[in-house]
Amino acid sequence: MNKKDTSNSHTAPVTSPQNLPPLPYAENALEPVITASTIGFHYGKHHKGYVDNLNKLVAGTEYADLTLEKIITGTAGRAEKTAIFNNAAQIWNHTFYWKSMRFKGGGEPPAALKQKMEASFGSVDACKKELAGAALSQFGSGWVWLVLDGGKLKVVKTANAEVPLTTGMKPLLTVDVWEHAYYLDYQNRRADYVNSVLDKLINWEFALMNAS
Ligand SMILES: [Fe+2]
Repeated sequence: MNKKDTSNSHTAPVTSPQNLPPLPYAENALEPVITASTIGFHYGKHHKGYVDNLNKLVAGTEYADLTLEKIITGTAGRAEKTAIFNNAAQIWNHTFYWKSMRFKGGGEPPAALKQKMEASFGSVDACKKELAGAALSQFGSGWVWLVLDGGKLKVVKTANAEVPLTTGMKPLLTVDVWEHAYYLDYQNRRADYVNSVLDKLINWEFALMNAS
């Protein structure tokens, strides 16, 4: 994440320490739940846009050579750094979101995660219902997260670019509930998008890996 980008020199020779991480699968790998067209815009335009914006914003500043995580924690809650925070956090959130899904995901979580879900929510279904409920009740743009907070699993939601990293919680997985994540495929039906992601794409193995 903190490497100089020498390959992406289509613009002026600006310092470009942040790169757009590769998608962990092909653009059509999540069809039919999320189409290649949505991924094409979401990854190729939105995610890339945050990388390009951040690189312009931090060029020549104290943030130019910091890791993404350090930029996020160093600018969180600072009104004069909002633009840097928003773009940095959106890069991190999207990279985490792509990994939170996989081809033929969903289904039964691995036993070790299932145990944690049952201990914290009562059942896997209850955990999924809480994730879906949080996604639907998030007013406007934001994110829904499964996090580890003091050894207990929790569902939290964040607005706009906010990320639980800044409040000491450990993110395990996320679902993007910005309209750009689903509008081409589902229009205003956020519930259908979220439930389909939870049933068919969610990457429980990734969540377990983050929990251990
Ligand atoms: Fe997004």
